[in-house]
Amino acid sequence: MELFEAIKTRRSIRHYKTDLVPEELVQKVLEAARWAPSWSNRQRSRYLVIRDKGKRKKLADSLRPGNSAAVALTEAPVAIVVCAEPGKAGYTAGDKVTGGSDWKTSTTNKGNLYLFDAGLAMQNLVLAAHALGLGTVFVGAFQVNNVAEAIDLPEGMEMIAMTPLGYPSEGGRTPSRKELSELVFNEQ
Ligand SMILES: Cc1cc2nc3c(=O)[nH]c(=O)nc-3n(C[C@H](O)[C@H](O)[C@H](O)COP(=O)(O)O)c2cc1C
Repeated sequence: MELFEAIKTRRSIRHYKTDLVPEELVQKVLEAARWAPSWSNRQRSRYLVIRDKGKRKKLADSLRPGNSAAVALTEAPVAIVVCAEPGKAGYTAGDKVTGGSDWKTSTTNKGNLYLFDAGLAMQNLVLAAHALGLGTVFVGAFQVNNVAEAIDLPEGMEMIAMTPLGYPSEGGRTPSRKELSELVFNEQ
């Protein structure tokens, strides 16, 4: 699939067939994530692949009530969770080198470059999945405490986002986008 077509036709998929995803395709989408840019090429994002049904159910249960992506995590045969350790991207030898308040988060005060890196990697991953005929949906709203033990999350590591990965059982609606004229400014 041509890149621009993939960008435009990728949709958030919230219903899946239970058909298994060949391991080769799982590796391909992870490979796409691996080649994402990252701050100073530090490559701090980590990808947890979960196939176990019980663990996927725990992931689904960690979503806030009413989150329409919850069922997707139990239907699709694979879930991928992107994780990272705050205080690594944007730091050299323990010192924050990016400066400025733009990269700070109020909760950790350790900067949020790791979130930016993870977002770039996940965008690569979801586009590659789409090009391979697979569906995904970013899930950003979940209760980490409810699932950290089930996935043996190491101390200091944060779960940032997750996605189911599988064959879509429906196309997904196309939410509109703002016009470029609302989004783009020239010179000022
Ligand atoms: C950071 C982030 C978090 C998201 N979290 C959720 C989520 O928790 N549940 C869900 O159903 N969709 C979630 N989405 C998907 C968005 O709702 C979706 O991308 C948006 O409505 C545009 O639709 P499209 O992806 O089909 O173009 C998330 C998207 C992003 C980028």
